[in-house]
Amino acid sequence: MSETLTFDPIWEEKYSQGHSQRYPWDAVVSFVFRHYPHHKPRHEVRILEVGCGTGSNLWFAAREGFCVSGIDASHSAVKYAQKRFAEDNLTGDFRTGTFNQLPFENNYFDLVIDRGAITCCGLSVAQQTVAEIRRVLQTGGKFFFNPYSDRHSSYVSGRPGSDGLTLDISAGTLVGVGQICLYGRREVESLLTDAWKMLSLQHLEIVEQIQPQYMLHAEWRAISEKVY
Ligand SMILES: C[S@@+](CC[C@H](N)C(=O)[O-])C[C@H]1O[C@@H](n2cnc3c(N)ncnc32)[C@H](O)[C@@H]1O
Repeated sequence: MSETLTFDPIWEEKYSQGHSQRYPWDAVVSFVFRHYPHHKPRHEVRILEVGCGTGSNLWFAAREGFCVSGIDASHSAVKYAQKRFAEDNLTGDFRTGTFNQLPFENNYFDLVIDRGAITCCGLSVAQQTVAEIRRVLQTGGKFFFNPYSDRHSSYVSGRPGSDGLTLDISAGTLVGVGQICLYGRREVESLLTDAWKMLSLQHLEIVEQIQPQYMLHAEWRAISEKVY
C-alpha cells in the first residue's frame, strides 16, 4: 500500500462489514457540555465532527438539541449515521468526504470534535485538516483533538512509514487500525500554534494489568480555542 494515504480504505472495509459505534465517547460528552457557548439556545450551537464514523457522538449531541454536522470518508459509515438519525427522528448534516477539504463555510461552527480520526492520517494531512478546522470555526470556537500517543504499547510493534505514520501494528489494542500517527507532545503542540490558544492538554495512560499483561493505552486530549 502507498505509505501516505489521506484515507486508509481499511475503514470503509470495516464499516461495510457492519462495524459500528453506537454510543458516544465520554470525553466527547464532557467536551460538549463544558465548552458549548451557554449564552446561545442549543439549536443555534453548531457542532462539527471530523471523521464522525457511524455518528454516535453526533447522535448524542443532536438528542441534546444541538445543530450537528459530520464528515467521514467512509460512505458506509455516513449511510449508517443518516439511517440512524432518520429512525430516531433527528436532524444531522452528514457528508462523505475527506476532512482536509471541509465542505463548509468560514466561521460557521462553535465546536469541532476530532475523536480518534485525524490520528488515522499522516502529519501533513493533519496540518491541512487543522487549518481547515480553523477556517470553519468561529473566533472563540473550541476544538477537541484526540490522537493516540507514542507511549502506547502498540507503537513498538509497528514499522515506521512516511509522514509520521506507523504501519502494520502487530501487537496490543491498535492491531487492525491501519495506518496510524502516534503523537508526542511536540507534534500535538506544533499543530495548535499561532491562531490557537491551548485551554487544556491531557495525556491519558491506562494500564491493563491482566490481559494482555501490562498493556499501556495512551492518548492525548487537547482542547484549543481559535483566537483569530
Ligand atoms: C477511530 S474511527 C473514529 C470514528 C468516530 N469519530 C468515533 O468516535 O466513533 C476514525 C474515523 O476516521 C475516518 N477517517 C479516516 N481518515 C479520514 C479522512 N481523511 N477524512 C475523513 N474521515 C476519515 C474513518 O473512516 C473513521 O470513521
